[in-house]
Amino acid sequence: MKVLTIPALEDNYSYLIIDEKANEAIAVDPVEPKKILKAATEAQVKLTSVFTTHHHWDHAGGNEELLSLRPNLAVYGADPRIAKLTNFVKDNDTFKIGSLSIKGLMTICHTNGSMSYFVTDDADKAVFTGDTLFIGGCGRFFEGTPEDMHHSLSSVLASLPKETRVYCGHEYTKSNLKFALSVDPDNTRLQEKLIWCESNSISVPSTIGEELQYNPFMRVTDPVIQKNIGETNPIDTMAKLREMKNNF
Ligand SMILES: *[C@@H]1O[C@H](CO)[C@@H](O)[C@H](O)[C@H]1NC(C)=O
Ligand SMILES: *[C@@H]1O[C@H](CO)[C@@H](O)[C@H](O)[C@H]1NC(C)=O
Ligand SMILES: *[C@@H]1O[C@H](CO)[C@@H](O)[C@H](O)[C@H]1NC(C)=O
Ligand SMILES: [Zn+2]
Repeated sequence: MKVLTIPALEDNYSYLIIDEKANEAIAVDPVEPKKILKAATEAQVKLTSVFTTHHHWDHAGGNEELLSLRPNLAVYGADPRIAKLTNFVKDNDTFKIGSLSIKGLMTICHTNGSMSYFVTDDADKAVFTGDTLFIGGCGRFFEGTPEDMHHSLSSVLASLPKETRVYCGHEYTKSNLKFALSVDPDNTRLQEKLIWCESNSISVPSTIGEELQYNPFMRVTDPVIQKNIGETNPIDTMAKLREMKNNF
């Protein structure tokens, strides 16, 4: 499998997951359909499916136009508010598209229909996390609680294999890492990642293993972070981190 990162709008990411065995592709959050179709044409693959991570317009807002151009695409998602949905995905659903295996992971909080897609083949593992897990951060809690985000990050996503590549919905990495450093200043992995980020304008993908080292929202059980922000348990730490980040 090959993943093409397709920057869209200002700081949003769409992706094209290419199944090299079948010469087919899946678009993730194709908010600018023409860019996706151009990328598929250039890669000489047939677009068969769409994965929508959640219903927000900067992720699902291209579905209408894309389906008007390619009416036969299968559109996967976990929220009835997603336009043109054809395949409703539930937590832990597994299915195949071409030679790729997919597992749907319900990761609610940013929205209550947020779905992450864990995609694997013989050689590769990748997860598409929308606005739930960002590189160095997480999405805002629009339709969920700190408990929901803690579950989504530390129970669901953290249990994927460490080498799983993480592809998220926005390039917010630099500001996320600067915030992370303010609550975890002695973390050398974090310091290194921020330096790396200064000279890499596209920071995706990272890996689950990396995120566990520097993403404070995946480290809410760490006593150092708890102490630095004056909290004593993971859920209060999650709530406080989010509030601090919102005002950072
Ligand atoms: C995605 O890009 C659009 C258009 O540039 C921008 O208005 C929007 O704020 C971006 N999405 C988010 C969540 O920042
Ligand atoms: C999905 O799998 C996880 C981990 O095994 C489990 O905790 C969760 O309850 C499952 N979800 C559903 C809806 O069965
Ligand atoms: C999800 O959130 C929306 C908007 O807040 C609400 O209308 C809807 O009832 C919620 N759905 C579930 C399953 O909680
Ligand atoms: Zn969103």
